[in-house]
Amino acid sequence: MKGLILSGGKGTRLRPLTHTYAKQLVPVANKPVLFYGIESIVEAGIKDIGIVVGDTERYIRDAVGDGSKFGAKITYIRQPEPLGLAHAVKVSKEYLGDEKFIMYLGDNLLSGGVKEIVERFVSSNSNATILLAEVDEPQHFGVAEVKDGKVIRLVEKPKIPPSNLALVGVYMFDSFIFEAVDNIKPSFRGELEITDAIQYLIDKGFIVDYQLVKGWWKDTGKVDDLLEANRIILDDLQRSIGDCSIESSKIEGRVHIGKDSRVINSTIRGPVVVGEGVVIKDSFVGPYTSIGDTTFIRSCEVENSIIMEKTVVENIPYRIDSSVLGKEVFIRKKERTPAVLRLVLGDHSGVEIP
Ligand code: G1P
Repeated sequence: MKGLILSGGKGTRLRPLTHTYAKQLVPVANKPVLFYGIESIVEAGIKDIGIVVGDTERYIRDAVGDGSKFGAKITYIRQPEPLGLAHAVKVSKEYLGDEKFIMYLGDNLLSGGVKEIVERFVSSNSNATILLAEVDEPQHFGVAEVKDGKVIRLVEKPKIPPSNLALVGVYMFDSFIFEAVDNIKPSFRGELEITDAIQYLIDKGFIVDYQLVKGWWKDTGKVDDLLEANRIILDDLQRSIGDCSIESSKIEGRVHIGKDSRVINSTIRGPVVVGEGVVIKDSFVGPYTSIGDTTFIRSCEVENSIIMEKTVVENIPYRIDSSVLGKEVFIRKKERTPAVLRLVLGDHSGVEIP
C-alpha cells in the first residue's frame, strides 16, 4: 500500500495568503495542514508516500524534505498543470505501479486518522473506498447518492444536491482507477474529476464501497473553514508552558507557549498556541488563537485568529477577531493625529475598518 498526497492547486479561495504560499502549508494550530495528513498516513503504517506538486513545489519540498522527520520516504511527482484530481492520479501512474493506495487531499483534515479505514480496505475485495460526511452545503463538494447501503451516483458540485453526503478528500483505490482516469472527459470546470473516475468504476461494475466519517472532517480551502479547523485542533491542546518567560501576566487554561517566548503584562486565555521566540506585551490573547514563531504583539486584543510567523501587530484600538494574518505582516496604529489610513496592500487583500 502506498500513499498519494495531492499538494498542487492554486488555492484561489485562500488568496492573498496563497500568492506566496502553498495552501497545504497554511498553519493550523501552528502546524502546516499537510503535516497532519502525512502523519495520519504514516500512523496507518504507510511509509512510501508520493506528493503531487505543482507551481508551489519548492515550498512543499522545503517544508517536508525527504520525509525522514515523519518516518516516511517521500517521492515528489510533478503535475505540469493543475488539471484535476484524476489528472494527478494519471501523472502518478508510474510511481504507484500495481499497488493499492490511499489518496489524500493535502488541505483536508480528518479526526481519528485513517488507520482503521486503510485496514478495512486492504482486507476487503473493494476496488475503491470513499469516505462520506454529512455537510450543510453539499453543493460545494462532490456529492454521493446512496441506496440500500450502496453508492449509486456521484456528482461534482451539483446545483441541486441529491443528498447531504459530501465526498471527503480521502480515497482508497486499486490499480483499476487508471483505467477510469483514462476514460473520463474534463468537467464543467475544465478538470478531470476524481468524482467522475469513481462514477466510471461504479458504471463498469467495479466494487466501490463507502464509509461514513465518524468524527469531524474539514477541507481548509476557505478562510472560515481554516479558522474552524484551528478551533477544532486547539480544542485538544494540552497546557504546556516551556522554557519561556512570563512577567506580570495571567496564563489561563490550555495554553502552549514555545521556548524563548516572552509574555509581559498580558493575559492569555486558552486554548491558545504560541510559537517560539514570540513577544506578547500589554495585550490580551483570547481563545482559539494560534501565534507563529517570532511574532510580536503589543497593546492589542486578539481572539479566534491565526497569526503567522514574524508578524508585528501593535497598538490596535480594536479587538482583532476571526482574522488570518500571513507571515511578516505588520499592522500598527500611528500615534499622531489626524487619523489617516495609509495602506500598502497586495492584490486580493481584504481590510475591514469600523
Ligand atoms: C475536491 C473534490 C470534491 C471533494 C472535495 C473535498 O474539491 O473535487 O469532490 O468533495 O475536494 O475536499 P475541490 O477542493 O477541488 O473543490
